[in-house]
Amino acid sequence: MNKIEHLGIAVADAEKAKKIFDKLLNKSSYKAEKVEFEGVSTHFYELGPNKLELLEATGPDSPIAKFLAKNREGFHHVAIAVDNIFSEMGRLKKEGFVFINDKPKEGADNKLIAFIHPKSVNGMLVELCQDKI
Ligand code: CO
Repeated sequence: MNKIEHLGIAVADAEKAKKIFDKLLNKSSYKAEKVEFEGVSTHFYELGPNKLELLEATGPDSPIAKFLAKNREGFHHVAIAVDNIFSEMGRLKKEGFVFINDKPKEGADNKLIAFIHPKSVNGMLVELCQDKI
């Protein structure tokens, strides 16, 4: 576990949210990426060694649409950078953590990612991410 790589922020309208975050952070998002099979459209801001990831639903079946049906806009997940996602998943599974995806998958920003179920982490959604080599 290296550092907080990014915080995921669920937004209903990315264009509207970007105007607010541009002003808040006094910079523009440096990257936009749609991850179609995940149902998310992402916008990244750099903030020191960490990032903010704005997450907008691409359709009604998106996990973000489902999240926003139950929760207000805002904090969605914390992503922790790891050197080796396979060994970290193995270690955490032995500790009893349950993963939403059993194997690492391709995420935005050139990463391999895996989500730990919030039930395992006191209600918080945690993403592990490793840079793809
Ligand atoms: Co993320």
